Amino acid sequence: MPNWVYAWDMLIFSMLVLLPTQWTISVNTNQESVVRTVKKVQIHPPTATRVLLPDGRQMAYHEQGVPADSARFFLIAPHSFLSSRLAGIPGIKMSLLEEFGVRLVTYDLPGFGESDPHPTRNLNSSAFDMLHLTNAIGVSDKFWVLGHSSGSMHALAALRYIPDRVTGAALFAPMINPYEPGMTNEEMKRTWENWLPRRKLMYFLSRRFPRFLSYFYCRSFLSGKHDRIDRWLSLSMGKKDEILIEEPVFEEFLTRDVEESIRQGNPKPFKEEATLLVSNWGFSLSDLQVQRKCQRRGIVPWLMSIYSKAECELTGFLGPIHVWQGMDDKVVPSSMADHIARVITGVNLHKLPNEGHFSYFYFCDECHRRIFSTLFGPPQGPLDNKLEMDQIPLEESAEQFFCFKFSDSDVNTTGCSQCFGGAMKDEI
Ligand SMILES: *[C@@H]1O[C@H](CO)[C@@H](O)[C@H](O)[C@H]1NC(C)=O
Ligand SMILES: *[C@@H]1O[C@H](CO)[C@@H](O)[C@H](O)[C@H]1NC(C)=O
Repeated sequence: MPNWVYAWDMLIFSMLVLLPTQWTISVNTNQESVVRTVKKVQIHPPTATRVLLPDGRQMAYHEQGVPADSARFFLIAPHSFLSSRLAGIPGIKMSLLEEFGVRLVTYDLPGFGESDPHPTRNLNSSAFDMLHLTNAIGVSDKFWVLGHSSGSMHALAALRYIPDRVTGAALFAPMINPYEPGMTNEEMKRTWENWLPRRKLMYFLSRRFPRFLSYFYCRSFLSGKHDRIDRWLSLSMGKKDEILIEEPVFEEFLTRDVEESIRQGNPKPFKEEATLLVSNWGFSLSDLQVQRKCQRRGIVPWLMSIYSKAECELTGFLGPIHVWQGMDDKVVPSSMADHIARVITGVNLHKLPNEGHFSYFYFCDECHRRIFSTLFGPPQGPLDNKLEMDQIPLEESAEQFFCFKFSDSDVNTTGCSQCFGGAMKDEI
């Protein structure tokens, strides 16, 4: 790790200790040139379908596109930080999903939206959650995983822990651990150099003092009042992103998605997500690199390996991995995509000139079409459905067994009081 990363840590730490309040206030006000009307956070009645996982937790999910029994491709999308099952591929057209025969499945990570929290979450449990979810909703075949931003770590975890179920991966502006020890000095520098000090502080806290994160979360996105996503998360924006986030369709989407994300009013799942990102993932990206591993320890196995090929096996993820990266992305710098493509040599890296963090993935019909063509080839429509009329479709029977819509009384708002401080009580 280069020294200057530690230098940053120290500088940030002193700022934190010496002037926490003044400093945050000044950061908040110097951008506030236009006075915007403060919009209160609303909590919506629960509507999600939920599935019972083997450990007794309920997981909320959402399906779009062609029915499971005629799906040519299943696409499973874990969401990013401060997002929910409502995100998926924002603005994706039903007609496009049909054209390519895609069933898109999204879900709330534990503690987000309408999913129960997980007591000891890690990236392995994240991959197994995906496995159990897909089993329960009748995804009998392999599926593709799709991740945007920090959602990518869950997609990558699936490649590592449940590779036999995954056809391939589509990653958009993938966020990896910013302290990733395998990064070169140059990659590390390009990663950190343009982030705002407050954002660096958040990574530092996630790594060293995660308990302080609650303080910041409760003052920003858990405050009960809406603000711009870039202010909440201390993000800088590229040109195209700046234009996009001002558009009503984006604002409306984001408002609803964030309200879903923070529904439980508890900073804990956000803290978990932040610390997962900056901690040891439990695997290294290079583990996904396809290589032939042969056991050769001592003279006897060596002699044996000459006469038999059984000692060798392929390791890593054998399917395709696509990465799309906007070159004007100021949220996740392109150094991260470069790092992924460097350590996993088979990665298809699509560099997108002038695109930002959101502009290629959110509300862009033409981009969505190009993405699907790249992943799935020419559109072939749904599978020919030869199902007998009297047979219960797989999906429906799975729902009867595993899913329970939950009633209003199940919403536990106890945890909210620590954050929402009454601002939201009247809404609930
Ligand atoms: C991952 O979780 C599964 C299911 O809980 C467990 O069987 C497996 O041993 C875990 N793997 C690792 C590497 O922790
Ligand atoms: C609600 O959640 C809190 C923890 O957030 C827990 O202590 C309490 O027992 C829960 N209440 C109900 C009714 O489930």
